[in-house]
Amino acid sequence: MRILSVVGARPQFVKLAPIAHACAAAGVDHVIVHTGQHYDPMLSDVFFADLAIPAPDHHLNVGSLGHGAQTGRMMERLEPVLVEENPDWVLVYGDTNSTLAAAVDAVKLHLPLAHLEAGLRSFNRRMPEEHNRVATDHLADLLLAPTDVAAAHLADEGLGERTVVVGDVMTDVVMTTKAAVADKPNPLEAELGLKAGQYRLATIHRPDNTDDPARLDAILDDLSCLDLPTVILAHPRLIAACERAGISLDRGTLISHRPLAYPDLVAAAVASAGVVTDSGGLQKEAFLLRVPTTTVRPETEWVETVSLGWNVLVEPGDALRAAAQRPAPEPTSASPYGDGHAAEAVVEALLTRR
Ligand code: UD1
Repeated sequence: MRILSVVGARPQFVKLAPIAHACAAAGVDHVIVHTGQHYDPMLSDVFFADLAIPAPDHHLNVGSLGHGAQTGRMMERLEPVLVEENPDWVLVYGDTNSTLAAAVDAVKLHLPLAHLEAGLRSFNRRMPEEHNRVATDHLADLLLAPTDVAAAHLADEGLGERTVVVGDVMTDVVMTTKAAVADKPNPLEAELGLKAGQYRLATIHRPDNTDDPARLDAILDDLSCLDLPTVILAHPRLIAACERAGISLDRGTLISHRPLAYPDLVAAAVASAGVVTDSGGLQKEAFLLRVPTTTVRPETEWVETVSLGWNVLVEPGDALRAAAQRPAPEPTSASPYGDGHAAEAVVEALLTRR
């Protein structure tokens, strides 16, 4: 059995880690293709090193381009790799342009296609990720859904028979990483002198938040006047947007910082008083670590984080400031995202469905 994983962006490397380990444990031949969508070492190489992911077998070096050019170039460069490797499964992850490019290539070559993290929906057709995930789900032969809610979305779209609920591989990674960093120093305390519970973490990178200068400025203003320092881990898209608009990231109690390696991110999040973000991944990581989260978006795919009281969706302004400073909710033992063994369930599903 040969499984070929296609990844390209930071959140996909995180999800790849437990899959690579589960493939190795099951003796499955696992081929890794990196599209090159993310190429900065802090968005790419450090994840392979820190999460013990084998080096990619193929690197497509596509880099940053507009959506059409980026997706098209990935398709063009991936096609001969798929022909050469002729895998039993092409496995695609999440909702990036790398996901869509690989999905289209696989179906056109009649290669079986499995989609990890299938069935997530924001129902917001302005998001490129929503186009990517809806299209990929409808192309795939096997839909690996993380939750019952995701499986219900797939059933609503007539895809129920291709769906298996496997749990969420991010639970696997977060739990393993949390245990690994438990007795390591918090990097933000070492570097910035910030004590546990005395700061918040923020990330903002979605085009809807970064590409409108007035909205971006309003979000950064809110973050700069909270009662505790807020460390914003600046994604390249955010830095580029600030430079374009002549907006400063360092203001008031807001401190800008380069993106963190994954173990450092987990350590910094666990010790934080809260997270403000528009990232899908960080919303859920914060929930898994039981850190209260404020999401600067009108909707979320991870609805369980909201219904269980750990995540609040806000617009910039009073709502953002109030939500960010709210106390943590009552502890919950709910685990809508699986038991930390999702990657094994994925490999099992791939072995038995072929
Ligand atoms: C992509 C995904 C998004 C995911 C995010 C995680 C799509 C449509 N979006 O968004 O779902 O949440 O990754 O980060 O696939 N850049 C660099 N260095 C890099 C990578 C990007 O400087 O290593 C810059 C580029 O100039 C580019 C911008 O960041 O203009 C955005 O990169 P892009 O790959 O288009 O999408 P992300 O915003 O990272």
